[in-house]
Amino acid sequence: MNGQEQDWHITAEQLTPISKQLIIWNQHPSGGYTACPLFANYAYSWLRDGSFIANAMDVSGEPESAADFYNWVNPIILRMKTRIELLLERFERGDSIEQHEFLHTRYQLDGRDDHNAEWGHFQLDGYGTWLWGLVEHYRIAGQTEMPETIADSVDLVVRYLCAFWEQPNFDCWEERGDQLHPSTLACIYGGLEAIGRFNGRTDLLEICAQIKQFIVEHMVHPERGYVVKSIQPTYTGNEYEIGYGGVDASALWLCEPFQVFAADHPVMAATISKIEADLKTTDGGIRRYSEDEYYGGGAWILLTAWYGWVSLASGKRLEAEQALQWIVKQADSLGRLPEQVAHAETDSEVYQGWLSRLGTPATPLLWSHAMFLVLNFQLVK
Ligand code: BGC
Repeated sequence: MNGQEQDWHITAEQLTPISKQLIIWNQHPSGGYTACPLFANYAYSWLRDGSFIANAMDVSGEPESAADFYNWVNPIILRMKTRIELLLERFERGDSIEQHEFLHTRYQLDGRDDHNAEWGHFQLDGYGTWLWGLVEHYRIAGQTEMPETIADSVDLVVRYLCAFWEQPNFDCWEERGDQLHPSTLACIYGGLEAIGRFNGRTDLLEICAQIKQFIVEHMVHPERGYVVKSIQPTYTGNEYEIGYGGVDASALWLCEPFQVFAADHPVMAATISKIEADLKTTDGGIRRYSEDEYYGGGAWILLTAWYGWVSLASGKRLEAEQALQWIVKQADSLGRLPEQVAHAETDSEVYQGWLSRLGTPATPLLWSHAMFLVLNFQLVK
C-alpha cells in the first residue's frame, strides 16, 4: 500500500507545484485534461473530472489552464446543437428517449466523440459542474459578464439540464443508470444556481428550489435523516423507492461546493456522520460506498479531500488537516497521487483480482491532484 514504510517524505508544500505541473503536462494543447495518462481507458477528458480540475487550477493561480478547458468544451457543445434541440423537442412532445441518445460524459482529448465505449455514457453531473466551474472562473477573474462566445453553449446546457434533471442516469462512478443520485442533482443544482445568479435568471433559481425539494422529499432516509445513495422510479413510474439505502461519500458535494445544504443543516449533518461511521477507514481515508467492488472499495484521494473540505466548513479544522496529511502520505516517490489506495479492511483477494486484470489503480489521477490542491487552498486561504 502507498504511504507505508516509506523513508522519504513529501510535504504538502512540495506536492502543490508537483500537482500543478502534472495537470499542465497532461492537458492536451486543445484544452482537455487526461483523466490519467498511465491507465488504459482513462486517456479521455471527462467533463466531471475536467471541471473540478479546472477549478483547482483557478484557485491555484493557473487561470489560463482553466480557461483552456472551459473553452475546449465550448465547440463540443456547439457541435451538438442540433442534437440537443432535437432531444428537447422530443422531450416536449413526451417521446421516450433511449439513454444512448443523450450527450456523452467524456470525449477524446482533441474533442472528438468517444463513439466506441459501450458503458453508461448518460451522466448529467459533468454538465452541471461545467456550468458551475465556468461561473467560478469568471468570478475569480473579477469578470461580471459572460463572453458572448460562450453564451450559446451555456444556453444549450442550461436548457438540457432543466429538461432532463429528473431522468435516471449513471452516477459519478458511472454506475446504476436506472436510478437518481444526490451528487448528480447537487452538480445540476450548483450549475443552474451559478448561472441563475450570474445572469440574473430567476427562473433557474426556481428550478434549483424544485431540485432541493425533490432531494428532501425523496432522497432523505425516512428514519435516519441522511441522504441515501440512490433512488429509483417505482414500476408505475410516478413515485420513487430507495435504490441503495446506504450512503455514498459523493453526497459531500451537496455541501461543498454546491451548497444545496449548509454543513450544519440537519440533513447534511446526518449525512456527514453516516459517512464518518460507514466510509472512513481506520487510518482516515474515505471510501465511495460500503459495497464498492472496484479494487475492493479502496479509500479515494479525492473523497478524502472532499471530507477535509466539508470538515473545514463544519468548523472541524483538525479533521481537514488530518485529511490533507493522509493524502500527502499516499504520494509516491515522484509525488504522484493514485485514484484510490487499499486499506486495512480491503479484501485482498478482490484487490488482487483487479490488480491482475488492470494493474495498480490509476496513477497519477489528475482529479486526485486537483482535490488535493483545493483542500490545501481551503486550509491556507
Ligand atoms: C470513476 C469516474 C471518473 C473516471 C475517470 C472512473 O473510474 O468512477 O468518477 O470520472 O474514472 O477518472
